[in-house]
Amino acid sequence: MLNCAKRLLQGVLLMSMLSAGAQAAPIDLIIDTDPGADDVVALFLAMASPDELKIRAITTVAGNVRLEKTSRNARLAREWAGREEIPVYAGAPRPLLRTPIYAADIHGEEGLPGVAVSEPQKGLANGNAVRYLIDTLSSAKPHSITVAMLGPQTNLALALIEAPEIVNGIKEVIVMGGAHFNGGNITPVAEFNLFADPHAAEVVLKSGVKLTYLPLDVTHKVLTSEARLKQIADLNNAASKRVVDILNAYVKADMKHYGIPGGPVHDTTVIAYLLKPELFTGRQVFMQVDSRDGPTFGQTITDWYGTLKQPGNVTWITEGDAQGFFDLLSARLARLP
Ligand code: RIB
Ligand code: CA
Repeated sequence: MLNCAKRLLQGVLLMSMLSAGAQAAPIDLIIDTDPGADDVVALFLAMASPDELKIRAITTVAGNVRLEKTSRNARLAREWAGREEIPVYAGAPRPLLRTPIYAADIHGEEGLPGVAVSEPQKGLANGNAVRYLIDTLSSAKPHSITVAMLGPQTNLALALIEAPEIVNGIKEVIVMGGAHFNGGNITPVAEFNLFADPHAAEVVLKSGVKLTYLPLDVTHKVLTSEARLKQIADLNNAASKRVVDILNAYVKADMKHYGIPGGPVHDTTVIAYLLKPELFTGRQVFMQVDSRDGPTFGQTITDWYGTLKQPGNVTWITEGDAQGFFDLLSARLARLP
């Protein structure tokens, strides 16, 4: 009888907590990134959301620009957001196998267009990002840590190659990358992050971790506009001014290339997905990465209709609420200095 009453009381307490909108536990998060214009906006959104995202560390990788600049830019974003307690670990200076490529034509030589860059006060954390990933993920509670991948997947791939058992510490991996329905951005079929290190993406895909991809299929539907940039500019703080200046410089290339009135903020959709997944929809599919030399190098082949009758290995996001995204981004940027 006593047990029954106890269970009843526990049930009542749980319901009252849920009805009071009790805050879910924050996501235990590592952000792997190659800042990068849209990476910095993603970092701002994440660092402005401490109730929902417990950022353990930022790990950097070569990608948009060389490692020393992606690492400097991650430290700058951290300083600008007033979150210098978050450690930044530098990782892989080059892809697993292929010849390194960069995107300075898009992100500028400093990897951060539209704003002045300087040497941040606080330095890098000691130790390499790959070692940090192995040590952290191998000692974490089972399936407790989320990894957001905003650049080439080299760091996580190297960690998985050295210590495959780290999958046990990973809750899920959310990737900005890939392209299916509307073609690529660095080649007619490949998206930059996958093209920059397809072998790394294959390692992560074959590790069996719970994977969600936000490809160009969705990021090209969440576009800036004059009104949306004004929505951010009207916040009138340093962070919003930096974001507007960065995005105005960053989106020009895509607007010209695709002949569209606004540009994508690719990486920021990963953080928005973590904060408000209801803004996005997709499907569990079987996906493969092409790492063979040739015209389809770096392509993600997504079996959207299940033709191959293979079990799904990735949640492939194709739709996003663009205004809901910019409303979220604006609300959070307002919190920053
Ligand atoms: O294709 C877009 C991706 O490549 C983004 O992550 C951008 O930062 C670049 O790294
Ligand atoms: Ca990036």
